[in-house]
Amino acid sequence: MTEPTIEDYFVENRTFPPPRGFADTALVSDRSLYEEAAADPEAFWARQARELVSWFDDFHTVLEWELPFARWFVGGTLNVSYNCLDRHVEAGRGDKVAFHWEGEPGDTRTLTYAELLDEVCRFANALKGLGLQRGDRVAIYMPMIPELPVAMLACTRIGVAHSVIFGGFSPDSIIDRVNDAEARAVITADGGFRRGAPSLLKPNVDAALPSTPTVEHVVVARRTHSDVDMVEGRDHWYHELIAGAGADCPPERMHAEDLLYLLYTSGTTAKPKGIMHTTGGYLTQVAFTHRYVFDLHPDDDVYWCAADIGWVTGHSYIVYGPLANGATSVIYEGTPDTPGRDRLWDIAERYGVTQLYTAPTAIRTFMKWGHEEPAKHDLSKLRLLGSVGEPINPEAWMWYHTHVGGGRCPIVDTWWQTETGAQMISPLPGVTELKPGSATFPLPGISAEVVDDHGDPIERGGGYLTLTRPWPGMLRGIWGDPERYEATYWSRFPGRYFAGDGCKLDDDGYLWLLGRVDDVMNISGHRISTTEVESALVDHDAVAEAAVVGASDDVTGQAIIGYVILKGRVEASPELVEEIRQHVSVKIGPTARPKRVFVVPDLPKTRSGKIMRRLLRDVAEGRDLGDTTTLADATVVDAIRAGASADAGED
Ligand code: PRX
Repeated sequence: MTEPTIEDYFVENRTFPPPRGFADTALVSDRSLYEEAAADPEAFWARQARELVSWFDDFHTVLEWELPFARWFVGGTLNVSYNCLDRHVEAGRGDKVAFHWEGEPGDTRTLTYAELLDEVCRFANALKGLGLQRGDRVAIYMPMIPELPVAMLACTRIGVAHSVIFGGFSPDSIIDRVNDAEARAVITADGGFRRGAPSLLKPNVDAALPSTPTVEHVVVARRTHSDVDMVEGRDHWYHELIAGAGADCPPERMHAEDLLYLLYTSGTTAKPKGIMHTTGGYLTQVAFTHRYVFDLHPDDDVYWCAADIGWVTGHSYIVYGPLANGATSVIYEGTPDTPGRDRLWDIAERYGVTQLYTAPTAIRTFMKWGHEEPAKHDLSKLRLLGSVGEPINPEAWMWYHTHVGGGRCPIVDTWWQTETGAQMISPLPGVTELKPGSATFPLPGISAEVVDDHGDPIERGGGYLTLTRPWPGMLRGIWGDPERYEATYWSRFPGRYFAGDGCKLDDDGYLWLLGRVDDVMNISGHRISTTEVESALVDHDAVAEAAVVGASDDVTGQAIIGYVILKGRVEASPELVEEIRQHVSVKIGPTARPKRVFVVPDLPKTRSGKIMRRLLRDVAEGRDLGDTTTLADATVVDAIRAGASADAGED
């Protein structure tokens, strides 16, 4: 017997089959897609590519695979903006709403497919007028306003690759990303509205520009009407460019493997990785997954992905997937607690949202705010819920299911990454029996295996998640750094893509994601996942949210330190803290009982909502904090540190 790679303790036995009414009308309600894909994955993807995407020239080769470099749908030509816009208008659906947009102050804008096409063509012509051409790269640094998807689609129309930089990033982050991509232009806005106030964007671009020699032009959309400096010859107002541009802009015929976009994601070193996505395979997989995972009925549904377009979730499931499928979507500019903590539910009610896709961190925040908030609104149109971004604790899953989904909506817990481009492991809602907290099984056409330290597949228990076959939406590399691409993803387990996530397989073959492997703790030789301990903490009635880290410990190697946010209060008696620790013991076992539990007012998170465990480890080990530039709210750590040093409690 070898030592288990990652121990698994947390057992969750509740199951939820597809609700009968849901399965009756679902696009998929049997195993045929799985069977077809298992029999011949390439033929399966070729069929999806031909059915879901319109090609100018058909492809002659489905896949060329020279590990680790894949080329999909070779010989095919297409245009992404044509697929997202023109073909729907040509089919007579020009008056269908593409986006119901709502600004944080409450202003709204409705864009039909025909209107979106018109604006995209004008803006594409404007970009051409600035000298941009096929093969160039453009950075986009914008708030969540309609001009953001317009800018992305306009780039795809003329064969320019975009690099969207999340609007919360600092000038330094803009400099790194713009320079790495050698972007010739930056598209931005004066600012956007967040928490009731304008947050300025153009000044950040101005601060970056002296250090970005490749940028020739800056386009500025007007949103907040704040004063901005405009440099003659370099800076242009979006609305003026659009007004002066023609509406006729034939789509560029792109090759399937032409670069569609770069999206930077942080790695283990300071230099962010420019993840490369190309055209044909990416569009095929986002269209496929958006249609079948969300069970999209484009004529009836109002779909809402409440992510930010600055992250891959927004690229694939606000812009490209929904538009390729001709869906009607909601886009919301601001924060969920402005003006009240029921803003999301208010929006969902007013637009009659049928599918809602959000992140566990948001769901746990809603839990903290109380189920009275969704209860104020009629959410009866909702028929499916989605989760993405991190493992969802069973308790958060149950809350979402009960208080948002009214007990009738399947939840699709979708595992994927910036690198995978599209969803990989997820239920199909009309087919899969759900277990709260499990992303269940690989989607049709996707092949995943859990392996041990030696790279050998295991049949049950904890290990590392790997992908064993190329998939259409996979990253094609890291911009400018093929060696890093190979080393990061393909070298730990030869022949396999290593996702960097721990994962366990239960007796029924369900996959349970356990978080990043660098978040796995080693307590007296037991490898325990932070996710499992966090789930056990949140399972306690008093706990709203939890983060767990392993801090170095002279005796046990590492010791488990838990940080918890309580429901509706900020302080706990020593008895309650003890009870919470004991609860983990009961749920998982004494090995996993945290050595210390701190009650904190908030947790440090990145702007995309991931807990920054590194900072919590630094606090737990009494170190100076390292880089905090990606932290959403820098004061949180000070509050935690103050609390941690005031607290004497230990075994
Ligand atoms: O650790 C996994 C976690 O998020 C990582 C990918 O992060 P990012 O590239 O920012 O993309 C997030 C949106 C796709 C993964 O390696 N992750 C994402 N979804 C899940 C998840 N962990 C568990 N369950 C999920 N559903």
